Amino acid sequence: MSFPLTRLRRLRYNKSIRKLVEDITLTSKDLIYPIFVCEGKNIKKEINSLPGQHQLSIDNVLKICKELISKNIKSIILFGIPSKKNHDGSIACEDDSIIQKTIKEIKIKFKDLLVIVDLCNCEYTTHGHCGTIIDNDVDNDLTLETLGKQAVSLAKAGADVIAPSDMMDGRVKFIRNALDNDGYYKIPIFSYSIKYASSFYGPFREAVNSKPMSGDRKTYQMNFKNSNEAIREVDLDIKEGSDVIIIKPALCYLDIIQKIKKKFNIPIIAYNVSGEYSMVKSGGSKNWIDETAIILEILFSMKRAGANAIITYHALEIVDYLKK
Ligand code: PBG
Repeated sequence: MSFPLTRLRRLRYNKSIRKLVEDITLTSKDLIYPIFVCEGKNIKKEINSLPGQHQLSIDNVLKICKELISKNIKSIILFGIPSKKNHDGSIACEDDSIIQKTIKEIKIKFKDLLVIVDLCNCEYTTHGHCGTIIDNDVDNDLTLETLGKQAVSLAKAGADVIAPSDMMDGRVKFIRNALDNDGYYKIPIFSYSIKYASSFYGPFREAVNSKPMSGDRKTYQMNFKNSNEAIREVDLDIKEGSDVIIIKPALCYLDIIQKIKKKFNIPIIAYNVSGEYSMVKSGGSKNWIDETAIILEILFSMKRAGANAIITYHALEIVDYLKK
């Protein structure tokens, strides 16, 4: 059937009918809020490159958790800013390391808040790379050892979900085994299966002081000119025991989200990363764009592409607009 019998505008003439036939929804329950934790007390230091986001000491993290729960946001992902670093990041495996301490405090007060922890070494190594350096390269299999130990220590502290973001080969299998051997078989792994070597992480690296001292992350993160490789990464991670797939960055990679959604029957989380956030914030602060409208359009595009949930720094500022 074609025009004039078919008129697609009929379903657009008023708001109620437009709402009735919408394909996707976005609610507070779809949002995961990233939190940067630092040592000390009463610290709330704004991150220069991420306006509106802060480095927080644990007491202030608890205040944010309360606010999130009051807004019906039920999930967070934690990143640590330790006071000390070492050559292989093993400092993050200690039971009194910054994230372990944070999880314990959160779990005393907010049992139902889903605490996801980003599992990586880059915030804890002196050189800023995601693993142990041997002969100027990140050694895959040695890095697995520290990741496995860190995962167990985080699970022991009470983490609900482990999210490895290092891109080492075989890490999901290694971490799954490490968790299971210590009895943590109920803890899911949300693997960043698809993590591109991206300039969109710039502001994050300033936030946690994890910029590599030399070189880049191209020997372990994916080349953004590739898309079929993403299928291989997800295929392997599912076989190794990943429960959910995280894809990052999100905005330039909606094609990848859609491709994975079509190919695999597994939940997907899109990571609306720091550079995506900062660009919106800078455009918004100059009034060049309608910031709220742009944030909504961006987040809905990720859901439309196939994401089940979204990690986003915009979570708190946008949640009240989702009800309308
Ligand atoms: C690694 C990690 C990074 C991000 C999340 N986990 C940085 C990196 O790979 O350099 C980036 C997130 C963002 O840009 O918002 N621990």
